[in-house]
Amino acid sequence: MAENTKTAKLTIDGKEYELPIHSPSAGPDVIDIRKLYAQAGVFTYDPGFTSTASCDSTITFIDGDKGELLHRGYPIDQLASKSHFLEVAFTLLYGYLPSADELEKFESLVTNHTMIHEQMHYFFRGFRRDAHPMATMVGVVGAMSAFYHDSTDINDEHQREVASIRLIAKMPTIAAMAYKYSIGQPFVYPRNDLDYASNFLHMCFAVPAEEYQVNPILARAMDRIFTLHADHEQNASTSTVRLASSSGANPFACIAAGIACLWGPAHGGANQACLEMLREIGTVDRIPEYIARAKDKNDPFRLMGFGHRVYKNFDPRAKVMKESADEVLGLLGIENNPTLQVAKELERIALEDPYFVEKKLYPNVDFYSGIILDAMGFPTSMFTPIFALARTVGWISQWKEQLADPQLKIGRPRQLYLGDTARDYVDIENR
Ligand code: ACO
Repeated sequence: MAENTKTAKLTIDGKEYELPIHSPSAGPDVIDIRKLYAQAGVFTYDPGFTSTASCDSTITFIDGDKGELLHRGYPIDQLASKSHFLEVAFTLLYGYLPSADELEKFESLVTNHTMIHEQMHYFFRGFRRDAHPMATMVGVVGAMSAFYHDSTDINDEHQREVASIRLIAKMPTIAAMAYKYSIGQPFVYPRNDLDYASNFLHMCFAVPAEEYQVNPILARAMDRIFTLHADHEQNASTSTVRLASSSGANPFACIAAGIACLWGPAHGGANQACLEMLREIGTVDRIPEYIARAKDKNDPFRLMGFGHRVYKNFDPRAKVMKESADEVLGLLGIENNPTLQVAKELERIALEDPYFVEKKLYPNVDFYSGIILDAMGFPTSMFTPIFALARTVGWISQWKEQLADPQLKIGRPRQLYLGDTARDYVDIENR
């Protein structure tokens, strides 16, 4: 961490405490309160972590006001248009753009670890046949620690590396198997002659009965969706992975925890919720009714795919996703898709509405992603598993960074206790 030159002063009951201020390479200054309790005997209170940095990191930077997202310094729009998912994965993991040779080796390493232990197939069969693929993924990824004992020692750098590659390589296989299982089709084994995105599409949509040719346009769109979801600094699921890992838990358990957190509709589950909402709206003339509901304080309804804790401007991923939606639906000849029309009109109306303007609510990454995934043939239940698959590299990069930190401490927030103070136990007959 850089030497701090600035300090903040805090006065409690007339006594002054000096707190160091750290200046980041980008973003707002950070007041270091690590010694506050020891020195002043007080905690800080910040439910939802709206003003609290939980770690230092060099991986991803978001400027929410500008609508900027950088991975290792590289803007997401450049990565989405010029790079591809496995190159972005390398960059997130190792901190720099790979040379051609490094990239080839990395791609080969990932490609050659895509199969899962054959015994895991039986594990899948223990789930109810119509299980949500996210439920299956939480279970199966957690269970990887029962299948890959040789990569669970977090203190062994080599094992950490093996676990990282295994997770990135096998997550598409697991997500595709969870999907196949949920629709009662046979599992399709990975194919090492296909690139990462094409292989995933093949495992999802091929059946043994007939030949399946991956559409290169859809593969490119799939790869871009993976790229746009690869990492997003200290969001809820990433923080969950870090918190689980801070206790020394094995990598598969930590990533399973991240998947569980991602599932919620306020986070990764929003892409499923958003498409369901757009379909429910159905036609452009019903939009005002839903806008009114979103603004009504007495109605819990929110515009899914709108708003973000950090972005108070356009989510840069949403811009790329919108272009991608136009491109994919155009190429598939379904540009008049009513859901896309509703989405565009909803966005236009919301962006002109004072409620959304004042609260700085813009479309987020989930607003258009569901439309593309739907056009590709995925059911809504697969939207969040695809997000989890792509985010795995971000979780892994953050997990590795955390474990390399010599100052690593178990994550243990404090609380503002408002319950009863000590009182005597009352025997049941006297209550
Ligand atoms: N529709 C209507 N009103 C909204 C919306 C929305 N989508 N999002 C926020 N608001 C309003 C809130 O009611 C609140 O109003 P108030 O100040 O009058 O009470 C204000 O905007 C701020 O909202 P908070 O919930 O305090 O903001 P927070 O940062 O905690 O929430 C969140 C961010 C969870 C993403 C929220 O915007 C939301 O629920 N959006 C819909 C779900 C969604 O799209 N999630 C995906 C996020 S991106 C991702 O995880 C990949």
